[in-house]
Amino acid sequence: MKDILLIDDEPGIRLTFSRILEKEGYRVETAANFAEAKESLSACCPDVVISDIILPGASGIEILKMIKERSPDIPVIMITGEPNIDTAVESVRQGAYDYLSKPINRQQLCGAVASAMEKKWLVDERKRLEEETLKYQRELEDKVRERTRALEELNAFINNVIESISCGLITLDLSGKITMVNTHALEFLHGENKSEIIGQRYDQLFPQDLAQAVGRVIQEADFSRSHEFELGERTIGYNVSPLLDNEQKIRGNVIIMRDISEKKRLERELIQSEKLATLGLLAGKIGHEMRNPLFGILGYAELLESKYPQEEELRQIISQALRLKKMTSDLLMISKPKPPLITSVDLNAVLRETLDFLREVTGQIKYHEVIQKYHPNLPLIQGDKEQLKQMFTNLIINASQAMKDQPAERSILTVGTGIAEEGRLVLAYVQDTGCGIADKDLERIFDPFYTTKGEEGTGLGMAVIREIVNKHHGQIKIESRIGEGTRVLVLLPVG
Ligand SMILES: Nc1ncnc2c1ncn2[C@@H]1O[C@H](COP(=O)(O)OP(=O)(O)OP(=O)(O)O)[C@@H](O)[C@H]1O
Ligand SMILES: [Mg+2]
Repeated sequence: MKDILLIDDEPGIRLTFSRILEKEGYRVETAANFAEAKESLSACCPDVVISDIILPGASGIEILKMIKERSPDIPVIMITGEPNIDTAVESVRQGAYDYLSKPINRQQLCGAVASAMEKKWLVDERKRLEEETLKYQRELEDKVRERTRALEELNAFINNVIESISCGLITLDLSGKITMVNTHALEFLHGENKSEIIGQRYDQLFPQDLAQAVGRVIQEADFSRSHEFELGERTIGYNVSPLLDNEQKIRGNVIIMRDISEKKRLERELIQSEKLATLGLLAGKIGHEMRNPLFGILGYAELLESKYPQEEELRQIISQALRLKKMTSDLLMISKPKPPLITSVDLNAVLRETLDFLREVTGQIKYHEVIQKYHPNLPLIQGDKEQLKQMFTNLIINASQAMKDQPAERSILTVGTGIAEEGRLVLAYVQDTGCGIADKDLERIFDPFYTTKGEEGTGLGMAVIREIVNKHHGQIKIESRIGEGTRVLVLLPVG
């Protein structure tokens, strides 16, 4: 219910006005003078005050001032039995809401009160809305602050996780631009700083062969497997996965890289040591048991051949015995390698001699076109010339055998040399246009006795090559495509 404080010293007015207003539904408090009005105002807070101007003691204007000081929102209607310009002006100046002169009829009174009530309601409502808005605003600010903090914490957490994992992490957008890298990843990208890398295309930043391999994985959506690549002397394992958004749409790719050189080395050593342990025993035995009788057979056969040079069977015996001899010496090379006889070696010369030997002495590669691309100022290396010759022999024979079903015009053997790693390494390669090697077989070709040549091969050639390369602290790389050919690259330190 709405409250009105009515101040008038005339009991008749108080009574009449109270009745009229109470009939309108208002609750009316009355006061006869300043003191009573003050008391009543301390006890409650009316919605509208109606005050006579002329009162005994302090005037209605004083009451008006007091109310405006304490509660400026309460509309005050001033009434007077002696209206004059001064009191009217003063009332307006002090902020009276209305000014009525007696006699005041019911309609005037109710009209003034209703309009004052409405003003009070509007003021109250505005205040309430302002307060509510302020409250919401504060709540909203609190929420935003809270969320921002939570987001910052989450961001910091994700960043810490990304930085703490012991892998290189790189994300790409759909166009192949790098959107994020962690510090570990910089190791694999030649240590530039993050801000330089972000926004660049991966295929401009990654080593070329890695970029191509990653491109293939993305194109073929071959995300289930782990992949590897050689970065200098290290082996890097990497996985590529699609980067999905909340709606499971692909937004790019995530690449995780880790250095697996140590793991690889241990794996290789383990496999090698297991294989070699068995093979060593076997080879030692074969070597011992077979060498002497074999030399005997060969010696006698060659003797016989000189007596009966026309005998084809004798030539067959000699050729088979020579095969056995090669096999035993290959086996001995892998199982009990001789320490290399180190001298300064010119790989260009070794390659030339090997080609001459194979072409003229054995007639092995005479059906192929041979392209030679030697580096004119190739640095010397420290190595065992005979072992290196054996290495090239095995490589060239493999190349030649890979092209045996190829028409002559498509049988191109390319050998060459060059310099790598800013002059620290010398490289030599043997390349063919033969059948190629499937990716899945690449690791196996170094396994002793792994051959795809049936009776023709023993599967020791590549094992011997690896042994020789290892002894020379080098690396061997194979690039091959089925149906297109193979390039075997040997890298040896300059010395
Ligand atoms: N240049 C090449 N092109 C295609 N396949 C090759 C090439 N080099 C090696 N290989 C594959 O690797 C296998 C193993 O080669 P490796 O030289 O060890 O044995 P091999 O040639 O079969 O027998 P051998 O002991 O007489 O050399 C081969 O059987 C062949 O499948
Ligand atoms: Mg071979």
